[in-house]
Amino acid sequence: MIKETLDGIREKALEAIAQAADPDKLNEIRVSVLGKKGELTGILKSMKDVAPEDRPKVGQLVNDTRAEIEAMLDERKQKFEAALLNARLAGEVIDVTLPAKRMNVGHRHPNTIALEELENIFIGMGYEVVEGPEIEKDYYNFEALNIPADHPAKDEQDTFYIHGDLLLRTQTSSAQVHEMEKGRLPIKMISPGRVFRADEVDATHSPSFHQVEGLVIDKGITFADLKGTLDEFSRKLFGEGTKTKFRPHHFPFTEPSAEMDVSCFKCGGKGCRFCKGSGWIEILGCGMVHPHVLEMSGIDPNEYTGFAFGVGLERIALLKYEIDDMRLLYENDSRFLAQF
Ligand code: DAH
Repeated sequence: MIKETLDGIREKALEAIAQAADPDKLNEIRVSVLGKKGELTGILKSMKDVAPEDRPKVGQLVNDTRAEIEAMLDERKQKFEAALLNARLAGEVIDVTLPAKRMNVGHRHPNTIALEELENIFIGMGYEVVEGPEIEKDYYNFEALNIPADHPAKDEQDTFYIHGDLLLRTQTSSAQVHEMEKGRLPIKMISPGRVFRADEVDATHSPSFHQVEGLVIDKGITFADLKGTLDEFSRKLFGEGTKTKFRPHHFPFTEPSAEMDVSCFKCGGKGCRFCKGSGWIEILGCGMVHPHVLEMSGIDPNEYTGFAFGVGLERIALLKYEIDDMRLLYENDSRFLAQF
């Protein structure tokens, strides 16, 4: 009787295993036959109804059946696993004969190229390169540069205020103050960096751009030193034949102040589209450091004098590479950047 039941269970289980479509189905079968509440387990539980002398034999039969079903389950499971592995391997085949992906090597940004060129010129003249903070106190960006609270120059530079007297610097001139405050003289430094102004974006404006500040302070520095230095700088940057022209201007932190133009390096000064017919291109602001600015940073203007200048880095990059829209510098289009 029991033998027939066992045979029945085995036949049914083996049949189901043979037809199982996936490992989940195999598991289902394992649970329904061999599990705690499975059919075969049920038989073991009813052993108490079997006559004691028959129990070893019946037990043996149940165990054999169980072993057979388990073996079949394992065999099928291994087949599924092998098939799965083969499918995965087939999907991961690498054809080593395919052409390799080209490595995209980056290019230096026009700003970086211009900055490095500028730095090299000044390092060659014995200048130190120092950096100032982008977040400044009002004092460093304005007050200590002779731009007190109600000065109109403060409105000219649309400032991003953070809170209290903290702001995003509108000019690298603030780095001058940090350098002077260190109390180490003489000073011969340039300070490149990012500046911020609440300007609308267009071909010549951006809320964030870069300047390079210059500051020289020593005994006996005159306007002749300023002119000689910036002349030399212009020839190195734009070519040997470059001439300079200093137009009187006003900056609160320098006196006298000037704007410097260079002869157009495109037409040599005859006048062309590039220089808008004038033969000159405006490059930077400069001047002799105002005695009051020296005093505020603890330098005696009777003993020391100095000159300063500030140049827009993007302006130099745009001129040098004849780029007509500043926005191109910030879009990071690799087709544009790859040209430099
Ligand atoms: N800070 C000025 C600006 O952003 C540029 C400048 C002019 C810097 C004259 C100087 C200077 O150091 O002497 O417009």
